[in-house]
Amino acid sequence: WGSEQVCVHDDYQKTADWLLSQTKHRPQVAIICGSGLGMLADALKCQDAFHYTDIPGFPQSTVQGHAGRLVFGELKGKTCVCMQGRFHMYEGHSLCKTTFPVRVFKLLGVETLIVTNAAGSLADGLKPGDIMIIKDHVNFPGLGGFNPLNGPNDDKFGPRFPAMSACYNPGLRCLAMDIAKQQGVAELVQEGVYAAVGGPNFETIAEAKLMHRLGVDAVGMSTAPEVVVAVHCGLRVFGISLITNKVVKSYEDRECVNHEGVLEVSKLRSHTLQQLVSELVSRMDVN
Ligand code: 6GU
Repeated sequence: WGSEQVCVHDDYQKTADWLLSQTKHRPQVAIICGSGLGMLADALKCQDAFHYTDIPGFPQSTVQGHAGRLVFGELKGKTCVCMQGRFHMYEGHSLCKTTFPVRVFKLLGVETLIVTNAAGSLADGLKPGDIMIIKDHVNFPGLGGFNPLNGPNDDKFGPRFPAMSACYNPGLRCLAMDIAKQQGVAELVQEGVYAAVGGPNFETIAEAKLMHRLGVDAVGMSTAPEVVVAVHCGLRVFGISLITNKVVKSYEDRECVNHEGVLEVSKLRSHTLQQLVSELVSRMDVN
């Protein structure tokens, strides 16, 4: 599965047209909020909010910690649209549903996509509560042929064989690091490589060791498919992982990861993350 349910241009257009008829906001920036990070949307001024259940053509969110709302509003003088809750492969969505909102954003006129997620760390230098600016990703499902771009290519969105060598915009990464320094949180922030796995189970120790040896710094169950679709249609992408736990990499380790612990840490750092992202939105240039 993954390609049996193909969305066509008209599906995205219908949803975009409906949203454009329901709000006066014309977003320049889209933000996808990861587990426990939905408060980013609460900072928006002059909000127009829509439950996913009320948006024609939109998939539905099923994960605890994901509110399932699309919120339009102003953030530091820029118009944004924010997903409180994203879609994952493990929920049973096809990849075209998982990434559906990204193409809708493109049709709304969005030019920059910010993705956030909760992730487990493999790098020894990344502790729970740290913030990782995503430098690059490994899309494990994608390497196995499970790719949101599978199926006929829609040339209106992008090329058949898109380059992925500059997925995460270097200028925005650099700006985010400067902002972290100015906000006095530089010691919490570093760059790293994110790996997406399918989930919903967390990694085995053998899988964790494998990824560690391959140069992965943090692992999660989202983001890469959305970024692939975003880069395909020419969006500028910035990504951030909040490290919520260390991945167990040793048979001697007695610790065990769970979803509640992930949500707890993301709440703890939600304010820092919000400050960083909103200042980034404030200072990024847009057309
Ligand atoms: Cl340890 N693994 C995965 N796959 N996703 C996570 C995580 C770990 N921690 C938060 N999200």
